[in-house]
Amino acid sequence: MDQPRRVSAEITLTKNEPIKISGNFSVVGKDGNILNTDFNNEVYLCACGRSKMKPFCDGSHKK
Ligand code: FES
Repeated sequence: MDQPRRVSAEITLTKNEPIKISGNFSVVGKDGNILNTDFNNEVYLCACGRSKMKPFCDGSHKK
C-alpha cells in the first residue's frame, strides 16, 4: 500500500513576474497527469498569460 506523500510548498508572488513555487510538491494538469517529474523542486508558473509552455513561465513576460 502506498504511503501518503508529504507535500509542502512555499509560494512566492511578485509583481509582473512568474509565481515561484518551491518545496516538495507536484503540479497536476487539467487531465490529471503530473506535469513536473522532480517532487522536491522549484517551478515558475506563468502569471502574465503569454507563455507558450503554460502553466510554466517561458520568459515571455520579459519581452
Ligand atoms: S510570467 Fe513568464 S511568461 Fe508569463
